[in-house]
Amino acid sequence: MSEYKYATLAVHAGQHPDPLTGSVNVPLYLSSTFELTGIGTDRGWDYSRAGNPTRDRLEFALAKLEGGHSGHAFTSGMAAISALVAMLKAGDHLICSKDVYGGTARLFNQIVSGYGIEVEYVDTSDTASVEKAIKPNTKMIHVETPSNPRMVLSDIAAIAKLAHARGGIEVSVDNTFMSPCLQSPLALGADIVMHSTTKYLNGHSDGIGGALIGSTEEHKQRFLLVQKAAGGILSPFECFLVLRGIKTMPLRIRQHEENGRAVAEYLSQHKKVLKINYPGLKSHPQYELAARQQKGFGSMLSMDLGSQENCAKFLAALKIFLNAESLGGVESLASHSATTTHASVSAEERAQMGITEGMIRLSVGIEDKEDLIADLDQALAAF
Ligand SMILES: Cc1ncc(COP(=O)(O)O)c(C=O)c1O
Repeated sequence: MSEYKYATLAVHAGQHPDPLTGSVNVPLYLSSTFELTGIGTDRGWDYSRAGNPTRDRLEFALAKLEGGHSGHAFTSGMAAISALVAMLKAGDHLICSKDVYGGTARLFNQIVSGYGIEVEYVDTSDTASVEKAIKPNTKMIHVETPSNPRMVLSDIAAIAKLAHARGGIEVSVDNTFMSPCLQSPLALGADIVMHSTTKYLNGHSDGIGGALIGSTEEHKQRFLLVQKAAGGILSPFECFLVLRGIKTMPLRIRQHEENGRAVAEYLSQHKKVLKINYPGLKSHPQYELAARQQKGFGSMLSMDLGSQENCAKFLAALKIFLNAESLGGVESLASHSATTTHASVSAEERAQMGITEGMIRLSVGIEDKEDLIADLDQALAAF
C-alpha cells in the first residue's frame, strides 16, 4: 500500500472491499462480542473493546496515512491524549507546548498532575527553551504545532533530535491542525502522532473521535493495552464516519488550503484587523519553518479585532461563517478564543499566552472563497 501516492492511500488504505460480500464500503460490525472457535481460539476478534473489525480498518488507514507502525482510535481527541499520558508514571516529567489547546491544559493541570506527573509548559517554538527544560526525569515532550489559537510553530525535527540525543524521551505531536495530509511528524523524527479525528480526518463535523499513531511495536502493545484496560475506544459507527471522511480528505484539504490562503491575504490588508496569525503569510515570523516542515499552510488562522465588544459585533454579523467552536469541517467557523477553546484557562494565563480578548479564530471551510471574503468584509463593517 505505501508505494501509492497520498490521494490513492486515502481512498484505499484499510478500505478494501469486504472479503465476504464484496461491499465496497467497510461494513459496520455492530457486535460487542464474537463467537469463539474453541477454548482460547477465535477468528481474530473476541470482544469489541479489545478489537473490532470496523475499527481495525480505520486504525490501519491511520497508520498508513501517518507512516506509522500502528494506529489506535479513541472516543475523542482528549481520550487519545489521556491514553498517551497513560505511558507515564508518578515522578515523570512531561514537557508540553505552552500555547496548547485549552482542553489539553485542563487535562494536564486538573487530572494528570494529580497522578504525580510533573507537567511543565515550555515555549516549544524556541528549541533552546526545550533543551533547557529537560530534566533527568523528562519522559515526554508533547508538542502542538501549529498551536491553538496563535498558530505558533515548533520545529519537530530539532526537538526530536535533542530529545533522542538525551535518550529515553519521546516526542508526541498533536497534528490536528495540519491533518496527516499537510504534516508528517513521524517522518520528521517524532515518536507518536496524536489527532482529534473530530476535525479534518472526519471533516464533516458529525462525530467526535481521537487517534494515536505510534512508531514502534512497544507503542502498539502499550496503546492496545490502554484501549483494552481503560476502554476509551471509538465506536464502529464513528469509525465508519472517519473512514468515509478520509476518502475525500486530500481533496478537501486542497480547497481548505486555497481558501485559507485567500482569506488570510484579504484579512492581512484590512485596517480593522490589528494582527493576523497565519503561517502561510510571509509576515509570519516562522514562515520559513512552516514552508520547510509542512506540506501546506492549512486553513486555520487567528486575528485580533481589538476588543471582546468588537468580536461580539463581528460574530453576530457573520452570515456564512458560523459562530462555533471546533475546526476542520467543510463549513467555515469563527470563534472567540478567550470564551470558547481557552475558557478553562485563567485570564492571567491567557494574557501570558498572548490570547487577547479581541482574538477570533477562523477555521476556513470549503465554500466559495469569494463568498467567504464577502462575508468577512460585511462583518468587519459591523464595528
Ligand atoms: C489541537 C486540538 N487537540 C485536541 C483537541 C481535542 O479533541 P476532541 O475535541 O476530539 O476531544 C482539540 C479540540 O478542539 C484540538 O483543537
